[in-house]
Amino acid sequence: MSSDNIHSVLTETRLFAPQPDFVARARLDADGLSALHAAAAADHVGFWAGLARKELGWQTPFTEALDSTQAPNYRWFADGHLNVSANCLDRHLGARGDKIAIRFEGEQGDVATYTYRQLHGEVCKLANALKSLGIGRGDRVVIYMPMVPEAVMAMQACARIGAIHSVVFGGFSASSLRDRIEDAGAKLLITADGGHRAGHIVELKKAADEALAEGCATISKVLVLKRTGHTVNLDPDRDLWWHTLLAEQSDRCDPEWVSAEHPLFLLYTSGSTGKPKGIQHSSGGYLLGATVTCQWVFDLRDDDVFWCTADVGWITGHSYVAYGPLSNGATILMYEGAPTVPDAGRFWKICQDHGVTIFYTAPTAIRALMKLGDEWPVKYDLSKLRLLGSVGEPINPEAWMWYHTAIGKQKLPIVDTWWQTETGSIMISPVPGAVPTKPGSCTKPLPGIAVEVVDENGEAVADANMGGYLVITKPWPSMLRTIWNDNDRYIKTYWSQFQGRCYVAGDSVHRDADGYHWIMGRVDDVLNVSGHRLGTMEVESALVAHPRVAEAAVVGRPHEIKGESVFAFVVCKGLRPSGDEARQLTQELRDWVAKDIGALARPDDIRFAENLPKTRSGKIMRRLLRSIARDEQITQDTSTLENPGIVEQLARKD
Ligand code: WTA
Repeated sequence: MSSDNIHSVLTETRLFAPQPDFVARARLDADGLSALHAAAAADHVGFWAGLARKELGWQTPFTEALDSTQAPNYRWFADGHLNVSANCLDRHLGARGDKIAIRFEGEQGDVATYTYRQLHGEVCKLANALKSLGIGRGDRVVIYMPMVPEAVMAMQACARIGAIHSVVFGGFSASSLRDRIEDAGAKLLITADGGHRAGHIVELKKAADEALAEGCATISKVLVLKRTGHTVNLDPDRDLWWHTLLAEQSDRCDPEWVSAEHPLFLLYTSGSTGKPKGIQHSSGGYLLGATVTCQWVFDLRDDDVFWCTADVGWITGHSYVAYGPLSNGATILMYEGAPTVPDAGRFWKICQDHGVTIFYTAPTAIRALMKLGDEWPVKYDLSKLRLLGSVGEPINPEAWMWYHTAIGKQKLPIVDTWWQTETGSIMISPVPGAVPTKPGSCTKPLPGIAVEVVDENGEAVADANMGGYLVITKPWPSMLRTIWNDNDRYIKTYWSQFQGRCYVAGDSVHRDADGYHWIMGRVDDVLNVSGHRLGTMEVESALVAHPRVAEAAVVGRPHEIKGESVFAFVVCKGLRPSGDEARQLTQELRDWVAKDIGALARPDDIRFAENLPKTRSGKIMRRLLRSIARDEQITQDTSTLENPGIVEQLARKD
C-alpha cells in the first residue's frame, strides 16, 4: 500500500484529563513523566542502562549497554548475566514470600492461589523435572496449555534453566502446532489433557497426539498436566504425567545464569507469507521492557490485583501475565475460560470476587460485552477497579466511551496501549496519571521509545492531517532480536524499507496536531481478527490445500465485534458451485480452515467465482476484493484487469 492510501478519517475531539485523586497517588504524574522523557532524550542508551541497573537483579552487571556493531541485530546489556525467573520469583521471597502471586479461577468456578513462595517451589520442581528429562540451556520447549497457573509455571521453569520456550495458543490446530514444533526444533512438549472453554473440553492432548503422529522428530518427551481428568491416550514411551514426575522433585533449583542476550522465548506470529515467523526475544532487555511498562502504564503497586485477560499464547500474556507483573512482585489474576460462561456477567463477577483493581483486555471483548447490555456490569461491585486498559487493535470511540462509562463509571483512566509481538512491551500509551486521553488514540510514545510517522520515501510527515508509516528510529531493549532460523527475513521484513534506518512496524498511523497517535491499521496482508494477527496467505494456503479448491484470495471485512472478519474468494476446480452445493462446500471449507489453522481463522464469508481479478502481470487486485467484500460501489479503475468482466460475478451474492 502506498502512503497516498493512508488518509486519516477520525476527527475525535473529546479529551479526558486524569482525575485528581488518581494523579495524587500515581507513580508518575506529568512532571515525573516529563523528567523521564527529558532523560531519555538527553541520553537514550544511558537512560535504558540506568533503568536496567535499577529495575533488574543482575548476577554479573553489564559493562556495555548497547552493542550496535551487528545492527539491526542489536544487543543490549550483553555481557551482563541474570536469570528471568530469579527476577520474577526469588527476589520477592524476602519481602513478599507470603504475598499472593497468582489468583486463579477456572471456568467451572474452581479457585486456586499461589503465594510467591509456593509459586517459586512449584517452578523449581518443574525446572528440576525438565532437567531430569535432559532439557537444558538453549533447548526449545513448546508449551500448549490451557490458561491455568501451570502454564506460567512452565514458562518460568524454562526461563529458570535457560531453556527457550515457545508457547502455542491452545486454540491452534494440530497442524499449526506441528509447524511450530518443527520450526523451533523443540525437544519437549508440555501440554494438558485438556482445558475448559465455553462449556466444552478443549482436547489439547488429542491435538498434540495428532501433531506428533507425523514429523516432529525432535520431540523426545511429552509432559502432560492433568486438568480436566477425562480419558486421554498416554504413550508409555513418550508421555509423562506432570504430577507423577513433579512428586519426585526437590522444590529448590538454582537458577541458570545467562547472558542478557540469551533467548528467553520464541513466539510465532503471522506475517505476509504463509509461514508464521518465530519472533525471538532476549532475557534482559525483554524483561526490562515488561517490568518498567507495568510501572509506567499500569501504575502497578503492591496492593493491586492485576488482571490481563490475554491468553499466554499471545505476547500480551507473556509480557503482562507471565513476566512483567511478577517481576514487579504484583498479584495477578488468571481466568481459564470464556467471558460469557455461564452468562455475560462473568468478567465483572470475577472483578468483584477477586477485588481486581487493574483490568486489561482487548477491544473485541469490550465490543462483545457492550453488545450484551449495560445490565450486566451494574449487577456487580466494580468499586475496586482503578484503571482500565485496551490492547490488540484500534479501539473505536464508541467502545471506548462504553468502557469509560459502563465499567469506568466516568472516572477511571483508560490506557489504550499500542505495541506488537515484535516490540515485546508497550510502546505508545497514555501514562494514566499524566496524559489526558482521547477516545480511540493510543496517545504518545513512552519514554525511551522513538516513534516517527514517515511517508513512502522515509521522510517525516509534517502535515497533521496526513497519515504515514509507523516507524521506530532508535533501538529499544525489549525489541525482537531476530526471526528464529531466518535472520534474512528479519532484516527484510522490518529493516529494509527505509535503507535500514528504522524499524518498520507494518502499521499506518496518523499523528494529530497535539502529537497524539491514531493507529489506522496494517499496511501489509495481515488481518486483525479479534485482536489476533492472521496472515491472509496462511488462510489462502489452507484453502488451496482442499481438493476442490484451485485458487483463493482472502481479505478482511470490517466486523462489529471482531474488528475484522475473514472473507474468502474461492475458485473451484471444475464448475463454479451454486445453490445447495455452494452452501455445502462453504460449510466444508469453513470447517477445513478452522481445522487446519484454528477456529480464529474460520472464514465468515466464502464467495465462489470462476476467476480472481488479476492484473496483466498476474497480481491479484486485493484492493478491489476488499471493496467487493465491503459491498462498496466499485470506483477503482478496472481497465488494467486481465478479466474485467469478473468484477460483476464477484459482487454477486448467489
Ligand atoms: C495492532 C499485540 C491499534 C497493530 C500486542 C499491531 C493495535 C498489531 C493496538 C500487533 C492498539 C495492537 N491500537 N492497533 N492499541 N495494539 N494493535 O503482535 O496493528 O498480536 O501491529 O501484538 O496489533 O499485534 P500483536
